[in-house]
Amino acid sequence: MDNHAAPLVEMRDISIAFGGIRAVDGASIDLYPGEVVALLGHNGAGKSTLIKILSGAYKRDAGTILVNGEEASIANPRDAKKYGIETIYQTLALADNVDAAANLFLGREIMTPFGTLDDAAMEAKAREVMGRLNPRFQRFKEPVVKLSGGQRQSVAIARAILFDARILIMDEPTAALGPQETAQVSELVMQLKKEGIGIFLISHDIHDVFDLADRVCVMKNGRVVGTARTSDVTQDEVLGMIILGKCPPGAVPGPGAMTLAA
Ligand SMILES: Nc1ncnc2c1ncn2[C@@H]1O[C@H](COP(=O)(O)OP(=O)(O)O)[C@@H](O)[C@H]1O
Ligand SMILES: [Mg+2]
Repeated sequence: MDNHAAPLVEMRDISIAFGGIRAVDGASIDLYPGEVVALLGHNGAGKSTLIKILSGAYKRDAGTILVNGEEASIANPRDAKKYGIETIYQTLALADNVDAAANLFLGREIMTPFGTLDDAAMEAKAREVMGRLNPRFQRFKEPVVKLSGGQRQSVAIARAILFDARILIMDEPTAALGPQETAQVSELVMQLKKEGIGIFLISHDIHDVFDLADRVCVMKNGRVVGTARTSDVTQDEVLGMIILGKCPPGAVPGPGAMTLAA
């Protein structure tokens, strides 16, 4: 890790409550260029809520967000995109009945000087971006509903990075995929890493993400239990963080770390 590079994102002391429930309570997390940080924890731990604050879907009650070392004002998803933050939700939100290029440019189509759709330009750009991500992808003429889960995922990612996303959030990306497609998503993530994109990978299942992640951050009951480089902790230790809130020696404890009775 290059210690001189500013983090792409730093979320500091973020809190949000729904009614009386502190869904996220004083959570801090950061992400560096080309890094994959897995955000782990049981269902209800606050992972999606924390990340929805970063993507502008929820408004935080407290805390600070910095992008490239400068305070960012993110009040809605459009603000987040302006800062190069893109989110891929489990549902992918693709338009099923049109092809990959149409999905990539949905709502931001390239026009000719005559005011008509520039299909050739959009297909060329789609082929370039998809070629970078998934060189084997050839099904440019088919509606995306006909594609495999892994191929659909690559279309969703291509759409996210098309307009220079630097920070990608993937919420439970492999939850609905088989082993082969999960492997394909891993390849996509490795490719994005090479391009210097930082990725938050959210999962309730450590086995899905441990090998891909440079660091893990574990949440429990809205609070960060701890953060660790995957090379400094074992999967069993991370399970102990998730289940018991127990922070191993190789991890930096957060406010949610269980404190041992003296
Ligand atoms: N829009 C909402 N309204 C009320 N409660 C919510 C809302 N979103 C999340 N929560 C609550 O916040 C907590 C954290 O949820 P969530 O962030 O979805 O957890 P995770 O993604 O880790 O499974 C849960 O108790 C959940 O019920
Ligand atoms: Mg969630």
